[in-house]
Amino acid sequence: MNIILLGPPGAGKGTQAKRLEASRGMKQLSTGDMLRAAVAAGSEHGRQAKAVMERGDLVSDETVVSIIADRLDQPDARRGFILDGFPRNVAQAAALDRLMASRGLKLDMVIELAVDDEALVRRLSGRFSCSGCGKGYHEAFERPRSEGRCDACGGSDFVRRADDNAETVKSRLGIYNRQTAPLVAYYAALGKLKRIDGMAGIDEVSRQIEEALRIA
Ligand code: AP5
Repeated sequence: MNIILLGPPGAGKGTQAKRLEASRGMKQLSTGDMLRAAVAAGSEHGRQAKAVMERGDLVSDETVVSIIADRLDQPDARRGFILDGFPRNVAQAAALDRLMASRGLKLDMVIELAVDDEALVRRLSGRFSCSGCGKGYHEAFERPRSEGRCDACGGSDFVRRADDNAETVKSRLGIYNRQTAPLVAYYAALGKLKRIDGMAGIDEVSRQIEEALRIA
């Protein structure tokens, strides 16, 4: 099964994609994670993306479409994938249609996580992750089971994202509303959209997503 998780910054796309990887063996394809890895590696794509991401703007369509095209050609993507953070505008959605058609792949469902702006700001300002394995947490909603120790790898070093500061979050939300929100209508018109109440707790959102996928 191939799906898109669509939603604003902080809606829970990454959190739910990781849970779907664990429950269904699908592969999370996160353009944000791929771009952050490129920045950390100092690659050509990373050098182009760094300042853009720090401002909260969108990296060029050309860059992200080429990253996704390469990623779709890797064998693990053939077991089913969850696109997280891609597409982010109508041009990227049209490019994805072409990439999938040329590879004989089918998009099964687009799951929209609907969350209000106030909650998004709270989620992003409390987010942190393990620097060793990348597992994500939240100060109030998802703390490590043992204080100061990562549940997944036992590491004790945690980091926050450079673009989770108040000013950049505001800019990211504005860009989502202007450029990405139109994809809701795009996929609704194709009969692919399923809206989920992303305001619910993490477990309840997972339950709703599993139910949507079961009856698909
Ligand atoms: P990207 O990494 O994609 O960030 P984003 O879309 O802004 O989304 P986030 O990762 O911030 O949020 P999320 O929805 O995954 O939430 P999470 O699960 O972590 O993109 C970053 C940048 O890269 C962009 O600004 C852009 O510059 C560039 N980029 C990436 N893709 C691009 C593209 N296609 N085109 C151009 N540029 C691109 O949850 C957030 C927090 O809330 C966590 O702490 C979590 O524990 C908590 N939480 C999650 N669910 C719940 C819940 N139900 N209740 C309470 N807390 C919850």
